[in-house]
Order: sequence, then structure tokens, then C-alpha cells
Amino acid sequence: MEIAGKVAMVSGGASGIGRATVLELARRGARVVVADIDEEGARATADLAGASGGMAIGRRCDVTRTEDLAGAMACAFEHWGGLDIVFNNAGIGGEDLFADDPGPWERIIEINLIAVIDATRIAVREMRRSGKGGVIVNTASMGGLLPMPDSPVYAASKAGVVNFTRSLGYLGAEGIRVNAICPSFTDTPLVRRSGDARVEEMAKLVGGILQPEDVAAGVIELVEDDSRAGAIMRVTVRGGRDYAREVRPY
Ligand SMILES: NC(=O)c1ccc[n+]([C@@H]2O[C@H](COP(=O)([O-])OP(=O)(O)OC[C@H]3O[C@@H](n4cnc5c(N)ncnc54)[C@H](O)[C@@H]3O)[C@@H](O)[C@H]2O)c1
Repeated sequence: MEIAGKVAMVSGGASGIGRATVLELARRGARVVVADIDEEGARATADLAGASGGMAIGRRCDVTRTEDLAGAMACAFEHWGGLDIVFNNAGIGGEDLFADDPGPWERIIEINLIAVIDATRIAVREMRRSGKGGVIVNTASMGGLLPMPDSPVYAASKAGVVNFTRSLGYLGAEGIRVNAICPSFTDTPLVRRSGDARVEEMAKLVGGILQPEDVAAGVIELVEDDSRAGAIMRVTVRGGRDYAREVRPY
């Protein structure tokens, strides 16, 4: 898909990977609805896109609320008459499953997995209704492909996104391509919240730390490459961008 002139919705666009992707889509001529529970942050991203000649609108959206998701997508139709690209990217971490207070583990499943399913469901219906097809990219993680002993619920949520997305590869036949991206460790507020010492330790383990722009470049590839449907892209410091192989059945 050529990005110039298309309409996109990006969740979690106020920060990190979402913000970098909004800016790259806008730079390439897409008009973008920036949807985030942090309304001020969403507006700030939209302003940044506007300041460099792009077109974007910031909007409050809690992805765990179906009406907010539907509203963000309706906003794309109202303002720009379409919806071609949906990036379901909002996500959280922060569990400590076996502590006295186990942390918000159910919220992790709600935001990272259930909301991605809900948003994909709504987007597919909209893209079918418009008759023009489209591309949906879901943010998973390398933690959806590998065990994460210190974040098992996060890993489960992202593994869910991976296999949900793979299972929708067949929609490619009707012009709706659903793909997922699995970034490795990326320098965003999400990981900085665990402290600089932990960031250094993780960066050593995985060979370095990605920048949000590295992940945004992967999202752009998944949107532009018409051959990708049900694809699972990995983005890592050591391997760059590549695709996870299908598991052989039986
Ligand atoms: N940073 C990493 O190392 C890394 C690696 C792999 C995958 N990811 C995934 O990338 C995605 C983006 O994360 P990031 O690292 O850019 O983090 P981030 O904290 O910088 O950005 C996440 C954004 O999601 C928003 N958000 C949180 N809950 C929301 C809700 N209920 N509704 C709407 N928006 C909500 C936040 O306000 C924030 O703007 C997440 O899905 C995360 O799991 C991150």
C-alpha cells in the first residue's frame, strides 16, 4: 500500500513507538488519528506531526472501551473520509505476579490482548464496509515468541497477539492484511519506568536497545509490502528486521 494520501489510526500514539510511527506515517503523507488514553500526549504528537507539515488529530481513547475505539475509527471517516491503516499499539507492562500485590496483571491482558482483538474486529468491519480493504498492524513483542520469566502475563498477552494475527492471514484474500510486529527491547518510557540500571542490564542481554524509529520503520514496511498478511515481523538489534517462521503443523 502506498502511504501518501491514506488515513490511519494509531493507538498509544502519545508516546514511544506509537508516537514515532505517527510521525513517520504523517511524514509520508498519511492523515493520522492519534488515539491515546493520554489526551494531552495525543494532541502533542498531533501538533508535532503538524509542525513538520503532516496532518494529524489527537483524541482521547481508552482502548479497553469499545465505544472509544469505534469513536477513534469513526473520527477518521468523519475528518478524512476513510480508514486504510490501523496500528493497534497501546500497551502496558509492570507486573510482579507472585508479589503480595501482584500488580495490574488483568489490566495487562485487557489492554495488550483483549483491546487488540476488539480493535481488529472493529477495523475489519469498517474496512469491509468501505469496500477498499486496508492494513492492520498489531504490536506484539519478542516476549510473544520467547519466555519472559519476569513478565509471564505480558508474554502471554503478546503470544496471544501473535497467534491471533497469524490466524487472520486469510483476510489478505479480501484485501485486508493483518500483521504483527515483535520489537525487542526499545528505548521508551515503558521500559525506562523499570529504572536505568535494569535498562542497561537488558540492553546487555539482547545486544543493545532499539530506538522507537527502528520499530516505526518496521510498521511502515508491513503497511507498504502488499505480500504480507498474517506476517509476524521481528525487530531486534542483532537481526534487524525479519519474519518469524510458521510453526510446521504436525
Ligand atoms: N519498549 C519496548 O521495549 C517494547 C518492546 C516490545 C513491545 N512493546 C510494545 O510496544 C507498544 C508501545 O509501547 P512503548 O514502549 O512505546 O510504551 P510507551 O509507554 O511509551 O507508550 C504506550 C502508550 O500507550 C498508551 N496507553 C496505555 N494504556 C492505554 C489505554 N488503555 N488506552 C489507550 N492508550 C493507552 C500510553 O498512554 C502510552 O502513550 C506496547 O504494546 C508495548 O507492549 C514495547
